[in-house]
Amino acid sequence: MIEFQQASKSYRSAGQDSAALQPLDLRIEAGEVFGIIGHSGAGKSTLLRLINRLEQVSGGRVLVDGEDVTALDADGLRALRRRVGMIFQHFNLLSSKTVAANIAFPLELAGVARAQVSARVDELLARVGLNDQAHKYPAQLSGGQKQRVGIARALATGPKILLCDEATSALDPQTTASVLQLLDGINRELGLTIVLITHEMDVIRRVCDRVAVLDAGALVESGPVGEVFLHPRHSTTRRFVAEAEHLDEGELHRDMAAVPGRILRLSFFGEKTYEPLLGRVARESGVDYNILAGRIDRIKDTPYGQLTVSLVGGDAELALAAFARAGVHVEEVRR
Ligand SMILES: Nc1ncnc2c1ncn2[C@@H]1O[C@H](COP(=O)(O)OP(=O)(O)O)[C@@H](O)[C@H]1O
Ligand SMILES: [Mg+2]
Repeated sequence: MIEFQQASKSYRSAGQDSAALQPLDLRIEAGEVFGIIGHSGAGKSTLLRLINRLEQVSGGRVLVDGEDVTALDADGLRALRRRVGMIFQHFNLLSSKTVAANIAFPLELAGVARAQVSARVDELLARVGLNDQAHKYPAQLSGGQKQRVGIARALATGPKILLCDEATSALDPQTTASVLQLLDGINRELGLTIVLITHEMDVIRRVCDRVAVLDAGALVESGPVGEVFLHPRHSTTRRFVAEAEHLDEGELHRDMAAVPGRILRLSFFGEKTYEPLLGRVARESGVDYNILAGRIDRIKDTPYGQLTVSLVGGDAELALAAFARAGVHVEEVRR
């Protein structure tokens, strides 16, 4: 478990302190994939780097499995870094070392015997699907392969926690999907706690269990991804969600202006997504629908659907009640 207790951070530059993180409280449970989303400069990397003490807090505390990492001595810090692996946007591989040597490096630093190192490297190469690339150099690899090396290196010392700093931000969508799938497997099969920071809601949607939204150094919203994604409260969160939905707000508003009647946003979560509710509600209430926007997808393993519809004719109140009874979340966009 990772716990921030009124943890804050200011950087001093040109004789001036500027706050990168306001005092914040946050609890990340063991075994979950926790996402932190925010725009550039929001303080995401700072937050992440407080966990493995690449940065020291300016105030408050950070606990990892109950241990106050802000108070560690050099030995304690070395032990912490073995328990907390990290991967980066630009991979940070050693260009003069082969793939195998990059992965072996943290093991050598930890004093692991040579015979054990090569067995462990083989195991890690297999885990990330790079068995046939062991003797290549980073420059000979694709971005996705480089990140796989980064992941293998981060896992070398058997950490319990993996920190991911924009790990897919330099990758194309297809490669991003395969790296996220690898991280998902590492979480499920090895039980690692993963803390992932990103500026893309789609990354959060695919792999995270819970999410926190950082805005200008302040934590403005947090909760299970399904809740935050389907019912964002803060304006920053709403913008991230709209971006992920590829929703053109301007276009939607033009379409809405062109149709009469009440406009609803219906959110379906879980198995309800596949129930033939629209037809049933139409029959019960006599309403018909104009569908203005919609999407069916998954939040991690859970299907969800979101539809923006205008109601045509019938008894709108009856329709609203029927949706509520069926457990569909209804938001009135226009009365
Ligand atoms: N080492 C540093 N020295 C001074 N300012 C920094 C340093 N690192 C980050 N900052 C500042 O702190 C704020 C948060 O940065 P960062 O945590 O990197 O945000 P993010 O990862 O969300 O882009 C930014 O205003 C940034 O300029
Ligand atoms: Mg950053």
